[in-house]
Amino acid sequence: MATETVDLGTVPDSWTRRHLLGLEELSAAEITLILDKAMVFKRAIVQGQRKIPLLTGKTCVNLFFENSTRTRTSFSLAARRLGADTVDFSSSTSSLSKGETFIDTAKNLEAMGVDVVIVRHRTPGSPRLLAENLQCSVINAGDGPHEHPTQGLLDIMTVRERRGSLEGLTVALVGDIAHSRTARSNIWGLKKLGAHVIVCGPSTLVSPRWAEIGVEYSYSLDDILPRVDVLNLLRIQFERQYTRPFPSVREYAHLYAMDHHRLARAKSDILILAPGPINRGVEVTPDVADGPQSAILEQVTNGVCVRMAVLWLVAGDGPRVDI
Ligand code: NCD
Repeated sequence: MATETVDLGTVPDSWTRRHLLGLEELSAAEITLILDKAMVFKRAIVQGQRKIPLLTGKTCVNLFFENSTRTRTSFSLAARRLGADTVDFSSSTSSLSKGETFIDTAKNLEAMGVDVVIVRHRTPGSPRLLAENLQCSVINAGDGPHEHPTQGLLDIMTVRERRGSLEGLTVALVGDIAHSRTARSNIWGLKKLGAHVIVCGPSTLVSPRWAEIGVEYSYSLDDILPRVDVLNLLRIQFERQYTRPFPSVREYAHLYAMDHHRLARAKSDILILAPGPINRGVEVTPDVADGPQSAILEQVTNGVCVRMAVLWLVAGDGPRVDI
């Protein structure tokens, strides 16, 4: 295989953002730019390049106030592959427990010379609050049920890589739409790139108001399944729910779990995605999660590449404007 040197040059003039707070505010051109750069990084990694030192000397801090396996590790790996240093902040052992505010904590970290703050917090809007109060770059790694832009981007990258384009594809997001930040980021990104989006789940978790922005909604997976090209299976976010949205998990699985019976009635080339963590037997059965239609681990691989692209675009050399 011929090796291609990664010559991304400086950040293009068309990219002027210092932060990545959500996909709602990005244009189709900006989303496409991130995905194109992520593909360049992916090709380089596949060809064996472990280090692409475009952020040497920069420091990224993971400021996570909620649990994470994939996202935190993926951001750390992405930063290190770009030559940046990384620091992990743990809210449970910090001075937050001594009464320090969220902004003061972040300002103190910034005063130590941090270039990028990657924040996950249960409160929607907290990344924006930081962006308005810090000089460094802020990346949203999930703010409550609001947005999780890099998850949306890596989902879309996986579809685009498999299908070439999003234009005209029907993508169904199934599960806890009401509490899912992954759903929101997917909806904005998918619609901007020309996909038809269906949100599907129990009526307690799927609002008809999505129709107001051109998103189809359905309470029956079996009804929509035959015309779906991509199925993104979202976890039920019990940690964000005040009341039980359905009588039992068994009942939910009976109506919405993707299993081999449903797969037999789907398009033969349907693509199965899930942001993870997956609950085997609830939103997807093990045979489907591990089967040929599943791109679940490919999503994880693509996550590192998308995060490399985002880190480079917000913190690499190039023009910037404040939000
Ligand atoms: C998602 C999250 O945290 O919002 N997971 C992730 O980032 N990989 C989805 C979820 O927790 O269900």
